[in-house]
Amino acid sequence: MPSVVVVGLQWGDEGKGKITDFLASQADMVVRYQGGNNAGHTVVVGEEEFKLHLIPSGVLYSGKICILGNGVVINPGVLLKEMADLQSRGIDTSGIRISDRAHLIMPYHPVLDQLDECSRTVGKIGTTGRGIGPAYVDKYARYDAIRFVDLLDPDTFEERLSQVLGMKNNLLDKVYGQAGLDPQKIKEEYFQFAAELRPMVTDTSVLINDAIKKGQKVLFEGAQGTLLDIDHGTFPFVSSSSPAAGGACIGSGVGPTKINKVVGIIKAYSTRVGEGPFPTELPDNLVSLLRDGRGREYGVTTGRPRRCGWFDGVIAEYSVRINGVSDLVVMKLDVLDKLETIMICTGYRYHGGIIKEFPASLKVLAECTPIYEELPGWLCDTTKAKELKDLPVRAQDYLNRIAELAQTPVAMVSVGWRRDETIINQQIW
Ligand code: IMP
Ligand code: MG
Repeated sequence: MPSVVVVGLQWGDEGKGKITDFLASQADMVVRYQGGNNAGHTVVVGEEEFKLHLIPSGVLYSGKICILGNGVVINPGVLLKEMADLQSRGIDTSGIRISDRAHLIMPYHPVLDQLDECSRTVGKIGTTGRGIGPAYVDKYARYDAIRFVDLLDPDTFEERLSQVLGMKNNLLDKVYGQAGLDPQKIKEEYFQFAAELRPMVTDTSVLINDAIKKGQKVLFEGAQGTLLDIDHGTFPFVSSSSPAAGGACIGSGVGPTKINKVVGIIKAYSTRVGEGPFPTELPDNLVSLLRDGRGREYGVTTGRPRRCGWFDGVIAEYSVRINGVSDLVVMKLDVLDKLETIMICTGYRYHGGIIKEFPASLKVLAECTPIYEELPGWLCDTTKAKELKDLPVRAQDYLNRIAELAQTPVAMVSVGWRRDETIINQQIW
């Protein structure tokens, strides 16, 4: 029985929330495996809009087990608030489980994230400032990390906190000239979090592997996107985790032989929030073509306007390869409904030659100019289409070109925000 990974193929915000929600309707379990509350997933159910940052999108269906895996960095205060908000809107959150191996975001992490970014005059990453990077730094540095398993044992937590906070307060004082944080206050706050979250904390790898053994359907929900992956993204303008499909194994305690499909989510155009290279970016005077109207390209987490540009076939080929994508899902096709012409990038021109493979060097990338193919727009409403053949021929041609560049068939197409504005060409489960 299938285990399916959903992964973003661009810089995040491809619309994974909607597709995860869609696939979750048939799943038994939904697992987040990386990132933290830097993510922002929008799901529209009927007339209601939900914005999720930490909790897997599957929570909107009752009866699903929703797991925050070991690879996620968790701010417990944010998690409890997100749960309370969902409960106040009638959503059942009793299926949430947290890995005992997941690392905690502590109060100094967001503080240091923002101070670090502000103190840099060059090389800003455009972080969401939620403390994600500093929490992963502590994880990999090992000395100063605190995990959920530590939080549940008051003596261990107190011991870890006093050791770590001494170092962090020193850093705040000596490097940034800021007042330190109060250990007593943190202790009280986190003991309260522990009391509330304890029943949900468990060895989630056991839960996931048991579900797979029983033939249940498990959906792994990636946050961010391949180009924000710490290894495969546009480094250093990336997030600090592994959104790429391989991260699903490490971040949840499941072996690669247990994953059956990788669903790659790609927007019919491109967007990016924060700093970093973006070859097909539109100039300021044209950006509203995609950002405003139906595009609504503003960050869910930070509200920042997203940078927008044309579809990039070099990136599509790259991300399909990195993730081993089996099924392609094209999002937000309807945003292009009113455009007279649509550009699609098929390669990069570099120093007189042509590059087809996405380069590692940002210096090379900055000197690449996209090679565009111009396609005629379809200039009509696509939101009512239920099958590919309902789409205008020009929209079908556009999708075929995307599939060709990505070397992967299109399984689904999203033509609107709502659950039912989705074309299913090929079943995923
Ligand atoms: P951080 O993960 O908050 O440190 O942010 C690092 C970079 O990733 C910044 O450019 C952010 O804008 C971007 N980023 C982080 N999370 C998301 C997301 O969920 N969607 C889109 N961009 C994101
Ligand atoms: Mg988002």
